[in-house]
Amino acid sequence: MDVRLRRVEPGDLYYIVELEEKAFGPDAFSLDYLFYLYNRCRDYFFVADYKGLVVGYIVSCREGSQLHVHSVAVVEELRGRGIGRKLLEETIRIARENGLKAVYLEVKTTNTPALRLYEKLGFKRIGVKEKYYNDGSDAYLYALSLEENTPGNLQS
Ligand SMILES: CC(C)(COP(=O)(O)OP(=O)(O)OC[C@H]1O[C@@H](n2cnc3c(N)ncnc32)[C@H](O)[C@@H]1OP(=O)(O)O)[C@@H](O)C(=O)NCCC(=O)NCCS
Repeated sequence: MDVRLRRVEPGDLYYIVELEEKAFGPDAFSLDYLFYLYNRCRDYFFVADYKGLVVGYIVSCREGSQLHVHSVAVVEELRGRGIGRKLLEETIRIARENGLKAVYLEVKTTNTPALRLYEKLGFKRIGVKEKYYNDGSDAYLYALSLEENTPGNLQS
């Protein structure tokens, strides 16, 4: 599949907000918040572009020596074709290139596709955040160490 990753542009945010709503319902980011992320974190904000359409995105923000993945999603019709993996791998590659020490994220404890994806890429479960989501459900905290021989280590 000819999917190209590129840095986000302001016009993409209108498509991304729709994708957010479809993927996350009441937990979706608002357009205002996406603009905030664009202004603050655009170095780690990428879209997957397929024939000129935004079919996925990932946004992460740097926090000291760590990278926090805020959101990742792929349009439902094109899931299971490696796009989510590609978005995460690019994010990890750039975090490594920039000398960051770890990547971390929260994920719903019931979100099997996402859990599998993160575990496949080497993320380790390091904690639980109770009632993290609007529906009262819990999140697992996952981390990927970018330092040698310290899997999941979040210390800086
Ligand atoms: C999670 C998500 C981004 C994955 O994107 P994707 O493009 O479908 O994933 P990929 O095709 O790159 O899959 C990579 C790996 O993830 C796992 N995976 C993906 N979909 C899966 C599914 N439905 N069931 C089980 N494992 C799955 C597999 O391990 C897969 O590797 P494999 O194909 O070698 O078996 C996508 O399902 C999505 O947008 N979900 C809704 C939004 C969401 O939940 N985001 C994560 C919030 S924490």
